[in-house]
Amino acid sequence: MNIKKITIGCDHAACELKAQVIEHLAERGIECIDVGTYSSDSCNYPDYAHALCKNIQDGVTELGILICGTGIGMSMAANKHRGIRAAVCSDTFSARLTREHNNANVLCFGARVVGMGLAFDLVDNFIDADFEGGKHQKRVDMITAIEESECNK
Ligand code: RB5
Repeated sequence: MNIKKITIGCDHAACELKAQVIEHLAERGIECIDVGTYSSDSCNYPDYAHALCKNIQDGVTELGILICGTGIGMSMAANKHRGIRAAVCSDTFSARLTREHNNANVLCFGARVVGMGLAFDLVDNFIDADFEGGKHQKRVDMITAIEESECNK
């Protein structure tokens, strides 16, 4: 995707890696809206997942990046939000395919799982890929239908 802006968030486990990712994106001409956290003081990752998802739901940015220790808690919290499709990735193939096939709008990864170089590659693969639509659209629509269904009332 040709994006100029992205929302990014993290918890205390990932402040340093988030700063490095922000710098990497700046070098690519992509501005980051940073919803925190801003220090290594212990905090609760759902707060930051929520702040980031609000930005996407409100159309401030199309895509987001969430980093915690493993990426897992962030993805669980993010996926509770309507319209959010968050994927935890620690390989570049999945980071690309989750855009192409799942139309994921949030990439999650763990600062205790991936190093800086791989984190940059995950981000690049995610951002540079486009949703393929076609047969994948129907499947994404089915995910949305589950979100809207009686089982969630
Ligand atoms: C914080 O210690 C850790 O639990 C959190 O960063 C994340 O890994 C949760 O999924």
